[in-house]
Amino acid sequence: MSINFSDGLEDQPIVTSSSVLPEDASEGSLRPKTITEYIGQEKAKDNLSVFIDAARMRGEPLDHVLLHGPPGLGKTTLAAVIANEMGVNMRITSGPAIEKPGDLVAMLTNLNEGDILFVDEIHRLNRAYEEILYPAMEDYAIDIILGKGPSANSIHLELPKFTLIGATTRSGQLTAPLRDRFGVSLRLELYTPDELRRIVERSSDILGIEIDRDGAMEIASRSRGTPRIANRMLRRVRDFAQVRAGGVITKDVADMALSRLEVDKLGLDALDRRMLRSIIEFYNGGPVGLDTLAATINEEAVTLEDVYEPYLLQQGFLTRTPRGRCVTRKAYEHLGIECLGQEELSL
Ligand code: ADE
Repeated sequence: MSINFSDGLEDQPIVTSSSVLPEDASEGSLRPKTITEYIGQEKAKDNLSVFIDAARMRGEPLDHVLLHGPPGLGKTTLAAVIANEMGVNMRITSGPAIEKPGDLVAMLTNLNEGDILFVDEIHRLNRAYEEILYPAMEDYAIDIILGKGPSANSIHLELPKFTLIGATTRSGQLTAPLRDRFGVSLRLELYTPDELRRIVERSSDILGIEIDRDGAMEIASRSRGTPRIANRMLRRVRDFAQVRAGGVITKDVADMALSRLEVDKLGLDALDRRMLRSIIEFYNGGPVGLDTLAATINEEAVTLEDVYEPYLLQQGFLTRTPRGRCVTRKAYEHLGIECLGQEELSL
């Protein structure tokens, strides 16, 4: 079943999308450069600092690192921080950008000793090319086969010692042999409102916009645990503040701007609400399978799973059961829908 929503909200509102958008091009200037400047992800940072210090003491490159977690949490930023702390260069590519084996070989052979190779969306790397990475990661070498059939020749190429940093939103999709070759695996978690408030305050400082603590907290608590969204909201709220409110972001200014952008008090956007409402209206609160739900609201199942669900699960609006997704009592209450005959709803 596919329902045509005629409310003009087919696309995720730009401000709450956790994908990188063209307007995020200036995101770079807001990115922290050192581990001390990097706010949040304390567990990952604690471990990383030890590994970085140890590698530096031994004068060796850092072991290969896998960063995983929902989009927009700062995987690329953290990789750049690692490169900076190690004092090495970072080359950036992504799984889907590697279209032929030669692309990967060229990236590897162009590295300098100690460099970091950052592969974003590494789960989308062609499986056949992964095998190039195995000896590269393990022995800093690759074997290239030239020609075909009986006249084929293999040449052995030594590589400089390097660190591969892979980033993925779906670590479950990595093959076991690839996953096993990362010595360090760090999961990034959604940020707390207080961490996001500090990020918003830091970004405001860099952007030169005045903001008070409550204004920063208002943006933080509505940005679904994601710095990329918090920084994007900050830019939009800044527009309202500068045009309508004397250039200062207060709680009221942030509230007014974000309400206009259809982001509610708990950070849910129009599509989050549509997802919850669909489960209630069409499936009586659930359970409903992910693919069925995706077809119902005209979204891709992976988008629902990677982008929407982490925040809805964390906030307790949704549960995952073996039979599918269910909304909770909190979702009914938040949407102002009466919850009738929902014996199974325990939350
Ligand atoms: N900007 C985006 N992510 C950040 C973080 N984790 N710390 C500080 N500033 C940021």
